[in-house]
Amino acid sequence: MKDPFTITPKFPKILHGGDYNPEQWLSRPDILERDIELMKEAKVNCVSVGIFSWSMLEPEDGVYDFDWLDQVIDRLYENGIYTILATPTGARPVWMSQKYPEVLRVEANRVRKLQGGRHNHCFTSPVYRHKTREMNTRLAQRYANHPAVIMWHVSNELGGECHCPLCQQAFRDWLRAEFGSLDKINEEWWTTFWSHRYTDFSQIESPAPHGERNVHGLNLAWKRFITHQTIDFLKEELAPLREANPEIPVTVNMMGFYDGLNYFKFKDIIDVVSWDSYPSWHHSEDQEWEGLTESFYHDIMRAMKQQPFVLMESTPSTTNWISVSRLKRPGMHMLASLNAVGHGSNTVQYFQWRQSRGSAEKFHGAVVSHRGTNDTRIFKDVCAVGEALCKLGGVYDTGVKAEVAILYDVENKWAIDDSKGPRNAGMGYVDQLKEHYRAFWKRGVPVDGVDMECDLSGYKLVIAPMLYMLRADIARKLADFVENGGTLVTTYFTGLVNENDLCFIGETPAQGLSDVLGIWWEEIEGLYDHQSGSIVITSDRLKALKAGKAYKTSKFAEIIHTKTAQVLAEHGSEFYKGTPSLTVNAYGKGEAYHIAVNTEQKFYSNFYKALIKKLDIFTPFGNSELAHGCSCAVREGAGKRFYFIGNYNEAPATVETGMTLRDCLTGEVYEKEVLFDSIGIKVLVEA
Ligand code: GLA
Ligand code: ZN
Repeated sequence: MKDPFTITPKFPKILHGGDYNPEQWLSRPDILERDIELMKEAKVNCVSVGIFSWSMLEPEDGVYDFDWLDQVIDRLYENGIYTILATPTGARPVWMSQKYPEVLRVEANRVRKLQGGRHNHCFTSPVYRHKTREMNTRLAQRYANHPAVIMWHVSNELGGECHCPLCQQAFRDWLRAEFGSLDKINEEWWTTFWSHRYTDFSQIESPAPHGERNVHGLNLAWKRFITHQTIDFLKEELAPLREANPEIPVTVNMMGFYDGLNYFKFKDIIDVVSWDSYPSWHHSEDQEWEGLTESFYHDIMRAMKQQPFVLMESTPSTTNWISVSRLKRPGMHMLASLNAVGHGSNTVQYFQWRQSRGSAEKFHGAVVSHRGTNDTRIFKDVCAVGEALCKLGGVYDTGVKAEVAILYDVENKWAIDDSKGPRNAGMGYVDQLKEHYRAFWKRGVPVDGVDMECDLSGYKLVIAPMLYMLRADIARKLADFVENGGTLVTTYFTGLVNENDLCFIGETPAQGLSDVLGIWWEEIEGLYDHQSGSIVITSDRLKALKAGKAYKTSKFAEIIHTKTAQVLAEHGSEFYKGTPSLTVNAYGKGEAYHIAVNTEQKFYSNFYKALIKKLDIFTPFGNSELAHGCSCAVREGAGKRFYFIGNYNEAPATVETGMTLRDCLTGEVYEKEVLFDSIGIKVLVEA
């Protein structure tokens, strides 16, 4: 889309709404009418309809019924409520599975599933693709030019994999195209190990619990193929939608840190990024980590297309599929909702509008409970968010400007998780990213979560923790980034394998990265959970890290040697005591740091405090961490800057700002500090 802020041209405003399943209530027209009244009261301006409607839209093979959907969409629109229209392919009617068993997925154990659940169709099946095309063509012809329809919600939470014979064949065809020859595959997958050499493409099977699991190159290729095949299916799903009206944006709803797909590969196929957010609020008193995790994923979703994203689902209160269903404490719904906006969402949407009566989600949080009234706590919480979003209209055409990028790459994660050593007890890739992210989140410094293929040239600081898998072009890009004046931070477990998980021979970090970092890598060890070590600062070069100070390390320790780098800290114990554990190297116009350990938050906080100062990175309120449990997100544009300050503590908290700020929702003015009684969020502008 041309305008970077507009997620849907037909209704360029902040969206408030959620998943709506009127097909469950067709025998109760009174309830459908009541829904509209309640939606208006809650300032809902859009709902997602049709996500699981296939059996009501096509009750028998080839027999379609759109009358009920016409009425729902029209009636909503008459009342000022827009529709995000779904394609129903996330779940199928029973008749389809019975009539065409090939649509059912086959699991890795090679057992075909029975009808049941959802998201269990084969992406390769010609029958499923045909039925999807028939359905989507009809939906598109009927609704793509309807004034109420503002976006396509394609399928639901794409994911999973199928190991059926059709998928096996598609995998082999894909491999042939990717690798060209079996010789190349045998070489890249190192199949001579344990005598696993293939002599014919027909011998290649997807990984299986009772079959091949140890060829890491195969595991990686299979995961890439799943992404490829899901996208291939998606392209077919989209074709009739785009054909009928290319102006209606298309999205697929993603899942937080789901790693079954490489979502970044979808970014050029969809128009808008959306995701479904279900944190485990209130599982402990300290909610900082939960708030941070949530914020980081928002930053990944926003950075993916460098435009506002859609918070497609969030629960208005309780999530019933996690181990324990806690109720959102007072203030939490507002905090979670507006924090998403602060990190770049131009919507707040829920699963679900009205609680279903039966089956697996009857106790999932909903805006309208089984009681069906407007006098519940949850309904009032949602109304308050609706009110707030109306007052925050000015946020719509602002964005998040990040000078810092953290590299989160799912393909790299696949390889790390498969690596067999140095820590089968948990490599902790995502946790390690969050440790680095925390130092910025706690200072309100905007960060982009990017993958290795993203453009890095505009950032001042790029942090690439555990970049174990290192493609030659990515290494080149990182080198160019530093050469041109950027600052790069890498950590232990970097640059050890190529894109097929084949170890580099010779110097590592490979592909020239050891020159950029000015070090060479010798070995790495894992530590048991009860073991620890230390990193001792030996140089005063970074002021916030004082020479002589030691920080506790855990999980990993890496033995490295300097070539041209300067040592800033060393290991404090074990036989490798005194060897480098933090280095910096001047390279071109920039600098590259390497951290050879996993260490405590205080270290990351001080380390990045120093880099923020050195690189003159924007911080909203100075370079100290905000009070514990508090965070800040910043959106800006067109001469405006909005500060979204949140408190995740049930206890009171004070955030020092040093500024005079006015609350956009209450008009209250805060001098130098912002006070919270309990959990909450304030959206502030300079007074
Ligand atoms: C997912 C799905 C929804 C619903 C919610 C419940 O995000 O997309 O259909 O099942 O979970 O939390
Ligand atoms: Zn299949």
